[in-house]
Amino acid sequence: MTVSTTSDAISLEDRYTLRTYSKLPVALERGEGSYVWDDEGNRYLDFYGGHCVTAIGHCPPRVSKAIADQARRLMFYSNAVYSPLRAETARAMMELAPPHLAQVFFCNSGTEANEAALKLARKFTRRMHVVSMTGGFHGRTLGSLAVTDGDSYRSPFESLLAETSFVPFGDIATLERTLAKTPTAAVILEPIQSMAGIVMADKEYYQAVARACRDHGTLLIFDEIQTGVGRTGSFSISTQLDVQPDIVTMAKSLGSGVPVGATLVNQTLADAAQYGDQGTTFGGGMIAMAAVRATLDTLIADELMSRAPQVFDHISAAAAELGVTCSGKGCLIGIDLGRPTKPVRAALLKRGVLVGGSANPNVIRIFPPLTVEDSEIDEFFGALGAALDATTADAAGPGRTDG
Ligand SMILES: Cc1ncc(COP(=O)(O)O)c(C=O)c1O
Repeated sequence: MTVSTTSDAISLEDRYTLRTYSKLPVALERGEGSYVWDDEGNRYLDFYGGHCVTAIGHCPPRVSKAIADQARRLMFYSNAVYSPLRAETARAMMELAPPHLAQVFFCNSGTEANEAALKLARKFTRRMHVVSMTGGFHGRTLGSLAVTDGDSYRSPFESLLAETSFVPFGDIATLERTLAKTPTAAVILEPIQSMAGIVMADKEYYQAVARACRDHGTLLIFDEIQTGVGRTGSFSISTQLDVQPDIVTMAKSLGSGVPVGATLVNQTLADAAQYGDQGTTFGGGMIAMAAVRATLDTLIADELMSRAPQVFDHISAAAAELGVTCSGKGCLIGIDLGRPTKPVRAALLKRGVLVGGSANPNVIRIFPPLTVEDSEIDEFFGALGAALDATTADAAGPGRTDG
């Protein structure tokens, strides 16, 4: 069977890949900037970014070129050897990172970055207990799943998961009580809880969490897999919050779509790390490093991080005009529609716009790239207004339940 139509692609993919995902009924072939095109030539405004990945747009030219050039030179060699490209990329990354962070471990995904963080924290503190937050999502491998909240992710695997205490996000008193009661290796949190519906606490909360960790000899891990790499206006959101997490994890936008994750640690942890503490064949491979290097170069050369607040302000103002409210920061945004989003997301798709759902049935998540044009934001709100008009508050049309 030759795959020549969307329906061919859907039936072939569903026939040969495990059906563990809820997918939009589109088959994409091409992307550029804020847009993607399906195999029938239809254009979509992509405010989903393939799960919050394309922070500098689809196929950013410097990154595409760097990958293509590198693919002709040396596609891969592992950490069994040194690499000038890996060395330069690590330096570029640490120069952008908050100054208290000293070294980086490269891996291949967000969940793997969190696995490394959790292992390093346990080994360093010689404690096993970890505290996480209600509403937090940290990945689906067993270590990261153990600190991810939500029955739908956990329940089939519960007996395999390391013990974790979940405390309410934003509740400092419960966190302090928990840390006082149980010696704890690490507190892990998403500074902006994405899947929960783009939920953020006050700056003082994060600072109180950092203080509580310090008081109890507990390490603080910021899962910046979504907030990192400039999406909220700084390379790590921790600098905006005036907090110095011991470990910061990043992935998603870091390689502009090439799989890569990173675990950044402070000097104390860097000094304590030993041969064999963590490893992976593909982490720090040359294609990934070329993609990261070019992504970071683009962020700096085009001064993209400074665009984040303007994008958020433009989107908030347009949302207010429609009578809906925004949460989040920079290009990590929740829009509370005040009614179930499922039919609205389906209506947006019909109008050629991709957005994400969330665990909050009333909140859509949008992840426009930092490169988004004002006219594209206006196009989005034109479509959102029409989608809201076309759906009634209690309609139960088709659409995804997650995202
Ligand atoms: C905050 C956060 N942490 C961790 C992960 C896991 O990343 P990955 O899917 O690359 O394993 C995700 C993925 O959505 C995430 O949003």
